[in-house]
Amino acid sequence: MIEGTDGLFARTEEFPNPQARARLAALVGLDGLIDRLATDAVALLDPTTIQTWSKSVHGEVIPAVKALADRTPLFVFAGDVGVGKTEVAEVIGQVIATRTDADVTLYPLSLTARGRGAVGEMTTLLTRAFERISADFARARRGDGRASSLGVLLVDEADALAQSRELAQMHHEDRAGVNALLRGIDGMRTDGLPVLTILCTNRLDALDPAVQRRAAIIEVFERPTHTQRAALLERLLAGTKLSAADINVLAGATAETRDRPYSYTYSDLRQRLVPEIVLAAYRQGVAVDSVIADEVLARTPPTRPFEAMSR
Ligand SMILES: Nc1ncnc2c1ncn2[C@@H]1O[C@H](COP(=O)(O)OP(=O)(O)OP(=O)(O)O)[C@@H](O)[C@H]1O
Ligand SMILES: [Mg+2]
Repeated sequence: MIEGTDGLFARTEEFPNPQARARLAALVGLDGLIDRLATDAVALLDPTTIQTWSKSVHGEVIPAVKALADRTPLFVFAGDVGVGKTEVAEVIGQVIATRTDADVTLYPLSLTARGRGAVGEMTTLLTRAFERISADFARARRGDGRASSLGVLLVDEADALAQSRELAQMHHEDRAGVNALLRGIDGMRTDGLPVLTILCTNRLDALDPAVQRRAAIIEVFERPTHTQRAALLERLLAGTKLSAADINVLAGATAETRDRPYSYTYSDLRQRLVPEIVLAAYRQGVAVDSVIADEVLARTPPTRPFEAMSR
């Protein structure tokens, strides 16, 4: 990852922007999910939208809407490797920006990019990150509670930090990291900062219960279904000699089998299988067809599930 000038965040990103629009458009099978997440994010970050809704359907701002204002704008994205957690977290700001008239800034913080073991360093990093964001958004809310700019703080690879309490008792440095995280998100909520925090983790079960309890949404991402794999392959292999029927067969061949109880992930298809197919055809100087696709598939197995790897 490219470091920002202050070495704190990987480069921050402003939405809307054309690259993010393209990345969003390239995602397959997640439209409903992204739509729901963005709607909830806007409701949590901008109280006026939900107040307007309440007035129109109930004639007043109902107390339940006020209770929503106490909710922590925290999303947890959990799930296997290569299933779109980081990708969705990085582009959701684009959707939020196009639905509100606010500018949205992404602050990406990767906890493993800094190397393992340096837990004390991660704690400092996190504390500084929240300080920087608090300074940036201190004046973001206008008199009516509406925000002129919104933030998305992405804490990626969060399992490096947010260990469960039981584990953390053995390494109290870890606990310091979790505490810094809790202090940070609680502080932003108390100060009413219009910032959505997204935590990505492969291991929901290792995530501290105090962090889980605060999450407005815990979304578990899954490996793609047959339909989703077919849709992605159809896009990635457009213009080749593979027919719709060939693509459907290929999607079937990337499903789980009796000997291998897991299917191909989005990243297996997009970053491994299809690039390999293209390279194989290129090396042979022939067109991409189903023979080459099958041959490459046979030597390109899917990534093992995260659980299986850790056992
Ligand atoms: N729904 C999707 N449609 C198309 N491509 C996808 C989809 N989901 C993920 N991808 C692609 O798969 C790759 C991996 O996705 P991503 O980095 O978001 O995985 P992840 O869930 O964060 O995995 P990890 O746990 O390893 O960090 C990216 O290149 C991304 O563009
Ligand atoms: Mg990721």
